[in-house]
Amino acid sequence: MSKRANPYLPQPGTIIDVVEETPAIKTFRVVLDDPEAMLDFRFLPGQVAQLSVFGAGEATFVINSPPTRMEYLQFTVLRTGEVTARLHALGVGDHVGVRGPLGNHFPVAQLRGRDLLFVGGGIGMAPLRTLLLYVLDNRADFGHLALLYGARTPQDFCFGEELATWGARRDIDVVRTVDAPAEGWDGRVGLVPHVLEELRPTAEGCTAVTCGPPVMIRFTVQALEKLGFGPERIVTTLERRMKCGVGLCGRCNIGSVLVCRDGPVFTKAELDLLPNDY
Ligand SMILES: Cc1cc2nc3c(=O)[nH]c(=O)nc-3n(C[C@H](O)[C@H](O)[C@H](O)COP(=O)(O)OP(=O)(O)OC[C@H]3O[C@@H](n4cnc5c(N)ncnc54)[C@H](O)[C@@H]3O)c2cc1C
Ligand code: FES
Repeated sequence: MSKRANPYLPQPGTIIDVVEETPAIKTFRVVLDDPEAMLDFRFLPGQVAQLSVFGAGEATFVINSPPTRMEYLQFTVLRTGEVTARLHALGVGDHVGVRGPLGNHFPVAQLRGRDLLFVGGGIGMAPLRTLLLYVLDNRADFGHLALLYGARTPQDFCFGEELATWGARRDIDVVRTVDAPAEGWDGRVGLVPHVLEELRPTAEGCTAVTCGPPVMIRFTVQALEKLGFGPERIVTTLERRMKCGVGLCGRCNIGSVLVCRDGPVFTKAELDLLPNDY
């Protein structure tokens, strides 16, 4: 039986690198200890995994390295509570458990041939990073690319080096914005939905993919609709507290939908059918 067949079984893994993104966010690169399990780990952008820390428990994180780059699995972790604090205390050579891949993924097949607009806020850049790298690794299959990424302050952006690399490319437009003016910052100032409306991206032929704090998603979706993006052309990925991750415990529901089983990726058209509490 394939090792992937058991969704309850964490695979032992080892941290091979840690990057300090911001004072509260660290990126962990993890390799599964069994090389066969690593080869067998197949996923698509947007899927998540449960990372476990021995003696602390497990928590859900998006796999933010793309399936086109399988040297390691990357997770970017905001410290909020028990498990994430224990993860932050780990370093290179420490062991974790990896249970996944779980959940659905971005509709990559339907995105082929389209222009893509990525709109991210804070740690919400993590799932967008996976999709963006996947798209860049298959660049000829996609149209125009644009990224709008907002953070509270200039110190709160994740993936700083990559942002600089993407910003220097001719085949993607990158705009960064911070919430309020800051010393030494010469980029945009303003909340993501406002800056999005100022930028006035063309909706025709384009799909928008957005992730960030719930309030950002709500206003960004409204802004996208005003700009002419139809509900099928707005894709987002949601967070709900998860436990089992495989549709059994009912912990992650929005109405009749389970985020771990039916999500975390939804179109606005799908969200329109749910109670309005995402
Ligand atoms: C599909 C999905 C993808 C995710 N991807 C990432 C990711 O890539 N990087 C990342 O840093 N985090 C991600 N999260 C959130 C992450 O799972 C939680 O922050 C983590 O479970 C917190 O665990 P903890 O034990 O440290 O905190 P706890 O002690 O459980 O809680 C600490 C605080 O965080 C709040 N909290 C905990 N979990 C969530 C949640 N899921 N949503 C909102 N608030 C929560 C609690 O209410 C509490 O206020 C994701 C969650 C989901 C469901
Ligand atoms: S986390 Fe158990 S049903 Fe979704």
